[in-house]
Amino acid sequence: MTPSTLAPSTSDSSVQANAGILATIDGDAPSESRPRKSVFSSKLGFVLAAAGSAVGLGNVWRFPYFAATYGGGTFLFAYLLIALTFGIMLLIAEVAIGRATGHGPVAAFRQLDRRFTSVGVLAMLVPAIIFPFYSVIGGWVTRYAFVFLTGGAAAAAETGAFGAFTSQTWGPIGWLAVFILATAVLVARGINKGIERINLITMPIFIVMLLGLAIYTLTLPGGTEGLRHFLLPDFSELSANTFIAATRQSFFSLSLASGVMVAYGSYMKKSASIEKAAFQIGVFDTTASIIAGLLVIPAVVAIMGIDGLGQGAGLLFATLPHVFASMPGGAIVGAIFFVLMLGAAVTSSISMLEVVVNSLMDRAKWSRLKATVVTSVGGFLFGLPVTLGFGVWSNVRLGGRDILGMMNFLTDTVMMPLVGLGTVLVVGWVIGPQRIIAAVHQDGQLFRTEKMFVVLIKWVGPALLTGLVATSFLMAFGVITL
Ligand code: PHE
Repeated sequence: MTPSTLAPSTSDSSVQANAGILATIDGDAPSESRPRKSVFSSKLGFVLAAAGSAVGLGNVWRFPYFAATYGGGTFLFAYLLIALTFGIMLLIAEVAIGRATGHGPVAAFRQLDRRFTSVGVLAMLVPAIIFPFYSVIGGWVTRYAFVFLTGGAAAAAETGAFGAFTSQTWGPIGWLAVFILATAVLVARGINKGIERINLITMPIFIVMLLGLAIYTLTLPGGTEGLRHFLLPDFSELSANTFIAATRQSFFSLSLASGVMVAYGSYMKKSASIEKAAFQIGVFDTTASIIAGLLVIPAVVAIMGIDGLGQGAGLLFATLPHVFASMPGGAIVGAIFFVLMLGAAVTSSISMLEVVVNSLMDRAKWSRLKATVVTSVGGFLFGLPVTLGFGVWSNVRLGGRDILGMMNFLTDTVMMPLVGLGTVLVVGWVIGPQRIIAAVHQDGQLFRTEKMFVVLIKWVGPALLTGLVATSFLMAFGVITL
């Protein structure tokens, strides 16, 4: 099998100098029959865009509350095990599928095997559903950035301030609109490239800042107790549920099973190493999550005691303003923190919107502007019930979950595992891992973890994900509760 088996006919010679991050941006809309030609203008381009998609609210907002909910160090252990092995291998598979076919998820899966087209369609629906609730949280970040920038740090640290804000009707809706508008403008104008460049500078600053804050938090009374809770696993607590939660979080955090990495992979240069890029992204993303955990979990324990860990999605917002209030210059530090976090959130939301917009441009032949307007208005409308779920609709329960919980469940417990399962089955058993391996080897690139790739994609992935899908269906029908 040669590396070109799956590859589109276009060669690197068609690479336009300084091509935009996404080819379509310059009006060069890829069509089904004509794989996209332009690629990232530099090897770094892909890594930056993919890391920008991966690092976001998933690391700073979601990872700490998952860790707090699912057993601290026990969760961390399961998370590292899954993200750094299976997660990175699936990332390699998705990027290779994108690069080899030259297509976004729908056309890519169809090209692999017609019977798997629906996996591509399902993949594309994932970011369409995540985008609304992600934007609600993005709206909260925007609001906190604004409040800290305009001298409201002290008020934000008052007890109950967070709940008082999220339970309002119009305030959070307004911030949701602002966040979506910002994402939409960037996607419509196709200026991702500039953003990713900025990211190159701001992301490391953000990580260093998180680390500095984490160290500061450990000096607070109770901080070390929180640290112990986050780092030390209790293996007697390890259960199937820990691994399910870890898999859900690793998919979300690495932007897997959502079409994003397939789409970004389709713009990747043929001469760049997929394996190297996947490890860079995987390790960077995981490091960001760990550092966020080192900050948020000790902060919660220091401020609210160990019981504070049970509060779920509001963990970060209810805690950090207190940390900032307790430190000299905290108002400024807080302002910088929320602005940087907003930047991280926007590069993730851009990637979600971009996948959907690109598919609509491809398949429905819509213009970029029309596709962006329709998807972002749709995202806003679906975001409304989520934000109201923290206020006037807080009593609404769907299958026993609140509205955000339901959208989380639908995506990370039902759809993403299904897409992941479809991906490992098509790669491991239908087209065979050799085809993907050949695509990774393109242009003489190394694939050092090839054996691990085969074992994890062919055997571990199907077993893990079948278990997860089966469990989630049993949960959905109320047979079991976890
Ligand atoms: N990985 C992003 C984050 O951690 C979220 C995301 C999920 C982005 C799925 C794209 C697709 O914030």
